[in-house]
Amino acid sequence: MSNYSLGHGEVMMERFKQRAITDGSRFIEPVIPSKGVIVDIGCGNGALASWVANTSGRLGVFAVDQDLHQLTLVNPTQPNLSYIESNADALPFASNSVDLVYLHAVCMYLTPLSTVLEECYRILKTGGKIALRNGLSVVNNMGLFIDETAFDNLLNHSLKKNVDNPNVAFTIPSLLNELNFLEVSVNTSIESSKSHEEIQQVANSTIELLDGKIGQDALQYLKINSSELESLKLGITQWSRYDKAYNKAVWLEHIYIKGPQKTIVNL
Ligand SMILES: C[S@@+](CC[C@H](N)C(=O)[O-])C[C@H]1O[C@@H](n2cnc3c(N)ncnc32)[C@H](O)[C@@H]1O
Repeated sequence: MSNYSLGHGEVMMERFKQRAITDGSRFIEPVIPSKGVIVDIGCGNGALASWVANTSGRLGVFAVDQDLHQLTLVNPTQPNLSYIESNADALPFASNSVDLVYLHAVCMYLTPLSTVLEECYRILKTGGKIALRNGLSVVNNMGLFIDETAFDNLLNHSLKKNVDNPNVAFTIPSLLNELNFLEVSVNTSIESSKSHEEIQQVANSTIELLDGKIGQDALQYLKINSSELESLKLGITQWSRYDKAYNKAVWLEHIYIKGPQKTIVNL
């Protein structure tokens, strides 16, 4: 069935499902247990959690986000998948009760990240795993159509990047080591898109960010005015129609396992 016969909501849903399958699932798949409890922190539209829940009916998947309104894009009726509205810095799960926690494209929003990772350590069983995947950089030729300085300014503001912490992904190993997580693997992956559909996907999701919280935040803090914002969106649309458009994103992927709790000796 071609996308043209689908309604707008269904087209969006297809696109998000596709994105979850191409981006997150390859990374999560090797660490999904055959049964047990999985927590997706910062689940966004829920597409990846839905994919994970589909891999086995013996899994209980809990998808957490501080803002669940994005879920209108997915089918929320899988019996082994529950959505929970909660801030990640106080997770509503018992200690030592979870087999796998993952955070896909979320860490840059979490301040402080250490508090959320402590919560992950608390809820995981000893031997449970944590998987984190974070974008490091994006290279593309959008600059032919947009003011890249204005765009970087807007993104850097909203992603709370700051001078001591230019990319939160690099701080993850030391934070995890302090909590007594043990490294299983660290990888980088490059997502390279050239096809018309993929470029369209990147453009659409970027425009959604600009229409959503990231754009609103930048407007509120006067990082950009509304006509500059509109001009960025128009430029991104034009880029997505350019036959030489390309996009490459570099991602850093960490998998760690919860080691035994450190014993505190009171002398
Ligand atoms: C870029 S989206 C990623 C969504 C999804 N994991 C994916 O890969 O498509 C980041 C998500 O993190 C959520 N988020 C940000 N800060 C959070 C917090 N403190 N607690 C819970 N969720 C948070 C946002 O609401 C948003 O849905």
